[in-house]
Amino acid sequence: MIIIDDLLTESEVAQFRQQLAKVPFIDGKNTAMGMAAGVKNNGQADAQDARVQQLANALLSKLGNNPKVISGALPQRIFPPCFNRYSESQTYGYHVDAAIMRIPNTPDVLRSDMSMTVFLTPKEDYEGGELVIQTEFGEQKIKCDAGSAILYPSSSLHKVTPVTKGERMAAITWIQSMVSDQHMRETLFQLDQSIQSLINTGNAEREQLDGLHHVYHNLIRQFAQV
Ligand code: NI
Repeated sequence: MIIIDDLLTESEVAQFRQQLAKVPFIDGKNTAMGMAAGVKNNGQADAQDARVQQLANALLSKLGNNPKVISGALPQRIFPPCFNRYSESQTYGYHVDAAIMRIPNTPDVLRSDMSMTVFLTPKEDYEGGELVIQTEFGEQKIKCDAGSAILYPSSSLHKVTPVTKGERMAAITWIQSMVSDQHMRETLFQLDQSIQSLINTGNAEREQLDGLHHVYHNLIRQFAQV
């Protein structure tokens, strides 16, 4: 799991929320497949609405330009983000995201390797509404600041606990990675992050960094499917 702090600035979050207040929301069950529909109880901004599509595109370009998203997910395709809203008592029980998704208005499909939630409501403005992800180390409960996001493996069981006070707005999306193997993807992320932090110390010799970059890119060359 990778936390992306400050994917959006405070004013960008405010703009998203202002725009989302003006668009129609539909029952989230409409977009859930199979068993997930039975446990899904939330609202979702109508993806047919041109303003919602604009917001999705704006968020998509933020994601595509974020170095940590690129390093952590190595995206090949990103699903147009969906905006959802949990009002008081709404919840989404344990489910697994669909493995293959059709990208709306295109002939393309996407294999979901990583799922992402971008938090849009300040966490002090609502109670409950935690994203809970089952991992090999037990349940992880996540509630990020507005503007921050979490990336996690789409293969994991996850849920959103009931909102008990206030309202929770978030954007969600799915990423097909150029590296489908989760462990290799994690290793590549660790390597890249280590190189970045070495660069930030200012102590590494140019030649040493070149050597590490060389290894990183050769691993990408070996494991990326494009
Ligand atoms: Ni899900």
